[in-house]
Amino acid sequence: MAVQAEIHTEAAAARAELEAELLAAYRERTPRSAVLHEAARRVLPGGDTRTIAFHPPYPLYVEHGEGCRFVDADGNPYVDLLNNYTSLIHGHAHPAVTAAVAAQLPRGTAYATAITAQTCLAEIITERVASVDLVRFCNSGTEAAMHAIRAARAFTGRDVVVKIEGGYHGTYDDVEVSVHPDPTSPLSGAATAPLALLDAAGVPTNTVENVLVTPLNDVAAAERLLTERGDEVAAVIVEPVLGAGGMIPAETEFLEALRALTIERGILLIFDEVMTFRLEPGGMQEHHRIRPDLTAFAKIIGGGFPVGAFGGRAAIMEQYDPARPAPLWQSGTFNGNAVTMVAGVAALEAYPASEVARINALGNHLRDGLGAALRASEVWGVVTGYGSFGNVHFTRGAAVRDYRAAATGDRHLQRLLHLALLLEGIFCAPRLMLCTSTAMDVTVVDETVAAFHRALARVRSAVAG
Ligand SMILES: Cc1ncc(COP(=O)(O)O)c(C=O)c1O
Repeated sequence: MAVQAEIHTEAAAARAELEAELLAAYRERTPRSAVLHEAARRVLPGGDTRTIAFHPPYPLYVEHGEGCRFVDADGNPYVDLLNNYTSLIHGHAHPAVTAAVAAQLPRGTAYATAITAQTCLAEIITERVASVDLVRFCNSGTEAAMHAIRAARAFTGRDVVVKIEGGYHGTYDDVEVSVHPDPTSPLSGAATAPLALLDAAGVPTNTVENVLVTPLNDVAAAERLLTERGDEVAAVIVEPVLGAGGMIPAETEFLEALRALTIERGILLIFDEVMTFRLEPGGMQEHHRIRPDLTAFAKIIGGGFPVGAFGGRAAIMEQYDPARPAPLWQSGTFNGNAVTMVAGVAALEAYPASEVARINALGNHLRDGLGAALRASEVWGVVTGYGSFGNVHFTRGAAVRDYRAAATGDRHLQRLLHLALLLEGIFCAPRLMLCTSTAMDVTVVDETVAAFHRALARVRSAVAG
């Protein structure tokens, strides 16, 4: 026991030393970002308006970006493998998007009346996504999920929503449940004692009365839950790839089971394709050949500008028709604003099926390269993802098929490697989530993999194998 404790202490000391070294190197490389961060802290809590963008000691300040690269305030170049959390499908400043926005700006940005660009973007979405007859725009993925849930509640007259453990659908109260729960918290076998846990302070504690949670890719658990509580449930909401939860694909069998169970019980199935719409021309529902009742969109459909949309079966979406008596209300000062709409049209027109396939192949190449680097370095770990998505996890043992498997991985090691990658000029999420864009080619991916090898070599000495 004493020997083991000694080994443990030595490993912890080696890690602390490595972390201090990486932080010092980061500070040395980015002094201007440090100054700008301090100035920001005087007016913004923690220096920013987006909790996720922060990482110690401070985030980078970016001067400009083009294609798959950006340059920080100190002139350091980076390959951008985060693409604003998957939303910049073409990287930065795509010429067609820039031209569309530049042409729109002198004509005005928002008029509180209808514009044809909105119809164009709606046509593109409804043509691509077979399950979507009608669509409405809003300003974020959070709003898209919120409205889809509200539409389902209005349509079914029921209140309860089922979500996936570790599923992220934005910051709306009803979905801030079991997003990042303690992975060792007891998993209830009985559907009558759901494992729904509030995620954020400030969300009313009674929120969990209307939210049930079930694990990803566990058909039996979903069956149990919906058999016991299905009569109360308005909607099941699911990401076809668990994004924030670790880029973990939902399996076809699981999604098919959800589709069958929801149809049997008069429950609406909502696919949150906010992230996954980029993975196939018609979203992941096309890949799985499943028709949800409603779909939430955001990210790539705005061409880099704030956006959200939700759509689905005509019978459900017609609730919003304002010419009807007592329509379902959905408004928003900037819904369908001209800049977002023209940028979204330009971005999606520049993203045909051939480009989807090309960047998915680049993503496969990237995940293969990262996996090979992990094996070569003998640092334990796995790479999850699908198509243009990837995520490195430092888990031991079983395959990562759900939130708990990913969340029990070594988060600290992810953060160390993130810093080491920044020092190599590779920008990804601190949780090592990454994605390809159309601005990339095989050379950029190989450059990334080579940098990943070097970053792994740097952290490996401090990591017990
Ligand atoms: C699957 C999913 N749904 C919803 C959202 C929320 O989108 P937004 O940040 O635009 O509110 C996100 C954001 O990352 C997401 O990944």
